[in-house]
Amino acid sequence: MKEILNFIDSNVDSYIEELKDFLKIQSISTLPENKTDMQTAAQFVADKIKQAGIEKVTIYQTEGHPIVYAEWMGAPGKPTVLIYGHYDVQPADPIDLWETSPFEPVIKDGKIYARGATDDKGQMYVHIKSVEAILKVNGTLPVNVKFLIEGEEEIGSPNLYTFLKNNTELLKCDAVLISDTSLWEEGVPTITYGLRGISYMEVEVTGPNRDLHSGTYGGAVPNPVNILADIISKLKDKNGRITIPGFYDDVLKPTKQEKENLKKLKYPEKEFAKSIGIKKSVGEKGYSLLERIWSRPTLDCNGIVGGFTGKGAKTIIPSKASAKISMRLVPNQNPKKIEKLFTKYIKKIAPDYVDVKITSIHGGSPFIAKLNQPIMKVAAKAMASAFGKETVFMREGGSIPIVVDFAEKLKATPVLMGLGLDSENLHSPNEHFNLNHFRLGIISSAYFMNGLANL
Ligand code: BES
Ligand code: MN
Ligand code: MN
Repeated sequence: MKEILNFIDSNVDSYIEELKDFLKIQSISTLPENKTDMQTAAQFVADKIKQAGIEKVTIYQTEGHPIVYAEWMGAPGKPTVLIYGHYDVQPADPIDLWETSPFEPVIKDGKIYARGATDDKGQMYVHIKSVEAILKVNGTLPVNVKFLIEGEEEIGSPNLYTFLKNNTELLKCDAVLISDTSLWEEGVPTITYGLRGISYMEVEVTGPNRDLHSGTYGGAVPNPVNILADIISKLKDKNGRITIPGFYDDVLKPTKQEKENLKKLKYPEKEFAKSIGIKKSVGEKGYSLLERIWSRPTLDCNGIVGGFTGKGAKTIIPSKASAKISMRLVPNQNPKKIEKLFTKYIKKIAPDYVDVKITSIHGGSPFIAKLNQPIMKVAAKAMASAFGKETVFMREGGSIPIVVDFAEKLKATPVLMGLGLDSENLHSPNEHFNLNHFRLGIISSAYFMNGLANL
């Protein structure tokens, strides 16, 4: 390991330069105008994996954006690790709030600023470099390694599931190594053992057949904006509980072991509120802050439009209003079932004198792992060796829809070796990634592969 560590340290600066080139590619999966950037990013990933010394690299086209697959199977009899990550990023808007341009990476105070820096280009790149370092130093890897890097994670992985289902033999592995979550705190090695799922819906209310003069018609016409606001306000009660009948039926209670683990983690309410500029946290009554984020489901309106939203005033009764509403789900809630319950309830509470259209945008299942699996222990030890501290275990409020399918379809152990920080502005202006975590991530990844070989 010593030689590998030295090699990583003498090359980390050039790794960061490469990461900059990666971050310049505007691989925004949700925007049609960036379709060719998606091909460019997939090609970049494939080229870098090849440069790392892996010959078998394939770009699979899908109905959406390409999937990059690679494998090095030179360690017969040893375990196989599949490295999963995503090269797609979220849109950069609101652009005005960026201090530097989102696709012109800049390093400041040991952090690299760009869209995708922490989610997930920087975190994912770590593993390409660890494989490269080991191969360059030893000419071989201690375990078999596969890469599966997709370009549709931020839009709910619509094509990856089919790819996974059709290629279970190709993707066969023992562990799935993923760096796409957060550390508990700066410099604290962390393994995440739970993710929330999601049901993302859109509700559109239509009233009159066109925008109307609000004086000539006001007082006699259903206003879709008012009605939509009324519908949204009915989705939660005063205790922060979601009112959709049956919504909580399948929610799993935390185990004893988990409760014990949770006691070790302190997240002061004040610090939390201060870090995001709110007066105090809110949410479901009777649950702690961490429970509300990690192990309880939620419902939030992500955006709402309707009527006149420009500068100044325009006196109208709008014809339409719509809202994007997402629900974060926890084990054992099922996104398909939640979609149905949501739709049924909205139809029930919406007045019959407007048209209501409800569509599902995407969904993903929640995930929870058992804590005492040998592969998880190897991962915890690897991170502890790299960071020089004991590894903590936590859950996350965010979602990575495909993770549960890795566990179920491949019968492999997902290892969520996150390297980001919640404060690194993912999905937000001024996204950045701590370069010390980048370096420690490469080292953790190398330790993990070594540890797995000796399991
Ligand atoms: N990397 C995130 C998920 C994440 C964020 C995990 C923070 C832990 C901490 C991922 O890229 C993401 O944003 N997922 C989406 C999934 C959705 C589009 C289906 C999410 O959680 O909103
Ligand atoms: Mn991500
Ligand atoms: Mn994301």
